[in-house]
Amino acid sequence: MANSQQQTADPSSPAVIVFFGAGGDLTKRKLIPALYHLAGHGLLPDNFAMVGVDRVDYDLDAYRSQQDKAIREFVGETFSEERWNHLLQKIYYLKGDFKDPATFAELRDLLQKVDAEQGTPGNYLFYLATPPSFFGEIATQLGQAGLSRQENGLWRRLVIEKPFGRDLQSARALNRTLHQFLGEEQIYRIDHYLGKETVQNILAYRFANSTVEPIWNRRYIDHVQITVAESLGVEHRASYYEEAGALRDMVPNHLMAVLSIVAMEPPNSFDANEVRDEQSKVLRAVQLYTPEEVLTNTVRGQYAAGTLADGTPAPAYRSEPGIAEQSQTDTFVALKLMVDSWRWAGVPFYIRTGKRLPGRFTEVVIQYRDVPNTLFRRSKIGREAIAPNRLVLCIQPNEGIDFVFNAKIPGPVTKLGTVKMDFKYVDYFGHEPSTGYETLIYDCLSGDQTLFKRADMIEAGWQLVDLILDVWKALPARDFPNYTCGTWGPKAADELLTRDGRHWFNCQA
Ligand code: BG6
Repeated sequence: MANSQQQTADPSSPAVIVFFGAGGDLTKRKLIPALYHLAGHGLLPDNFAMVGVDRVDYDLDAYRSQQDKAIREFVGETFSEERWNHLLQKIYYLKGDFKDPATFAELRDLLQKVDAEQGTPGNYLFYLATPPSFFGEIATQLGQAGLSRQENGLWRRLVIEKPFGRDLQSARALNRTLHQFLGEEQIYRIDHYLGKETVQNILAYRFANSTVEPIWNRRYIDHVQITVAESLGVEHRASYYEEAGALRDMVPNHLMAVLSIVAMEPPNSFDANEVRDEQSKVLRAVQLYTPEEVLTNTVRGQYAAGTLADGTPAPAYRSEPGIAEQSQTDTFVALKLMVDSWRWAGVPFYIRTGKRLPGRFTEVVIQYRDVPNTLFRRSKIGREAIAPNRLVLCIQPNEGIDFVFNAKIPGPVTKLGTVKMDFKYVDYFGHEPSTGYETLIYDCLSGDQTLFKRADMIEAGWQLVDLILDVWKALPARDFPNYTCGTWGPKAADELLTRDGRHWFNCQA
């Protein structure tokens, strides 16, 4: 069946995409390869160009040759010289300081030149792939230079990477700054989790199949687990991570995005605001903790030295370069959340994420309720032998959906065993090389905001996280480091479920 059901779509509208932070990692690893893949699918228009802006002193040739080197590394086997050369001619570079108005005056001139050379009509997508401290500044400078003003049917859009603020107050302040020069419909707050096919597939699974929704609620579902596990440690990001920690880094954005898609009501249509209204309702329905509840419903962890799944030794977080010897930063977090809605009342959502866990796995587990138990209670099988049904939405790396149910083990005596029906994306649709940014960039260029966070969604995420951070700050962890590299986090994370008579389903390769 592989590759039998490929998609076709129209190219996005003619435009110039401007990457601020064009000399950085994100641009070379993800953004330019994503443009390359979009070009390969015929999804970029002929009238298209990319302008990179950064502080690094490249001339155009040097910038193009740096990207030329990078793309070969990041695209791998499927690299096509012809496709890349076509794109390369559409790449421009401007050296400039993001805080200097002169940069934006030069950018305005360069964009006019590019429009003349590439036949682009004056539609600009500004992509902030910079450290977050520049987000507000660049948006303001663009506004002051008149570059974010939409006139004569032309559009101007701004894409903003995470982290969006570091708490509720700073997120609100950033939203206010953006709104000075931009309407909400011009702002695309990116969450790369929403660019993952399998996260989007949750919507398709739920709303394009008539058998799913009737049992997607508290009457049939016992609880939900969302795990985002990483085997990597902090890598070279010490200065960012020390300030962020696992909770800030992953929960208000990626985990809340997945949770809102799992828990949302069916929208009236796939109009961007209809979908986001439903997501926003879920986020606002997540019960906010009192300080006492923070203590009982949250678990934080930090990794100690240990051995990874492949046998490599790994140092403790506190021994990583750039990390404080007595760092209090969390590298693991587990939360029990309740969504206070008609559909989900009483159904816990257990979420967890951490660095240096046994592998890179992102999964949503929907555990259904037990069978009513009348049939098997007095038989030899016994109730314990009947595992509840489980639906596993595998987001990465083995993208697909598993359904775990009971079956009779063949033989003269009735015995039950657990079996699995598994749908793997790759079996049906083959493997399309992608960075995960293709859909998101295509959507920005096409003006579709469905997969982007609205201001209210961002603020709802921070509201919950702020309450936790306040308590954690007031009561620093006394047991850090409290889990070994290559394990599933601290013991307290297991206890969060065992005290409810449940346990984590640990993902397997
Ligand atoms: C980023 C976080 O947003 O997501 C990183 O800042 C994390 O710390 C990454 O490693 C995980 O993304 P993915 O797509 O590899 O699961």
